[in-house]
Amino acid sequence: MNNIVWHPHAVTKQDRSRVKGQRPLVIWFTGLSGAGKSTLAGALEEALAGLGKHTYLLDGDNVRHGLCGDLGFDEAARRENIRRVGEVAKLMVDAGLIVLTAFISPYREERDLVRNLLGEGEFVEVFVDAPLSLCEERDPKGLYKKARAGEIRNFTGIDSAYEAPLNPEVHLHNDGAPVPALVESLLAALRLRGLID
Ligand code: PPS
Repeated sequence: MNNIVWHPHAVTKQDRSRVKGQRPLVIWFTGLSGAGKSTLAGALEEALAGLGKHTYLLDGDNVRHGLCGDLGFDEAARRENIRRVGEVAKLMVDAGLIVLTAFISPYREERDLVRNLLGEGEFVEVFVDAPLSLCEERDPKGLYKKARAGEIRNFTGIDSAYEAPLNPEVHLHNDGAPVPALVESLLAALRLRGLID
């Protein structure tokens, strides 16, 4: 980067984290449209807030109303979407927050890019695994129907790829289990790693 020099500041991530009394981290939900990412991320955020944690949920549909409102769904746009979200999540971790993200994030390369932006143990990848047939049956926004009818192009799982995580920190099978039980298993996974008390 030409003529741009990093400016270190006196108050560090560790200082902010100490003030908050929590370990900042990113809990990264990935999965097909309709797999339940937003629902689970929202329910986990509620549980963490109930434990007194300072959280922030970045949700695909919402972020695409603002920060990423200029991006579509071709491969390059999705990669840029995740790159931006990763940078924002990193800033929020620097601010001391527990960040939850709910993006399809279909490409391993970008998910790993975000992982590598963060420190050891600061990135928890949660694969919300629901079969395409079930997501399509749920079709909460009617988008699969439109994609099948050719009204939406580049739809994940139909004519756009989803690369499932190979080694996620948490692999949730969301094919009918009640949300509270899934939230409990997420909390247990975070506790097991010493990320929350
Ligand atoms: S990505 O791939 O990570 O950049 O996608 P993301 O930012 O998470 O946005 C996914 C939501 O956008 C809606 N939508 C589509 N999804 C997939 N493919 C296409 N072509 C598409 N067009 C619109 C859809 O509501 C997604 O929300 P979720 O919550 O995943 O169902």
